[in-house]
Amino acid sequence: PTVTYELPDGSVHEVDVPCGQSVMDGSVRNNLAGIVAECGGSCSCATCHVYVDAGLFDEVSDEERELLEFAEGVRPESRLSCQLIVGEGCGGVRVRVPDTNG
Ligand code: FES
Repeated sequence: PTVTYELPDGSVHEVDVPCGQSVMDGSVRNNLAGIVAECGGSCSCATCHVYVDAGLFDEVSDEERELLEFAEGVRPESRLSCQLIVGEGCGGVRVRVPDTNG
């Protein structure tokens, strides 16, 4: 499925992310700026914060919710992109990367 990343510098990148990989993986593998992912996806750093429409991904886990409190600029649509696993239904999803990921 194609995931569209809107980066803090205003650039927009469409990336084909294989099912089973995370939105964070798709960004890091393509060297996009903004998703730092310091912890490599183990839900312990909050530097993979993105804004995304809810509904296409699994619900926020307690672990993710707690960690999101450490992210800056949190909004209702905030998620940690390493916890967003891409599935068939995710094609066309758009994620916005804040410029506060460190
Ligand atoms: Fe560290 Fe997502 S990569 S919490």
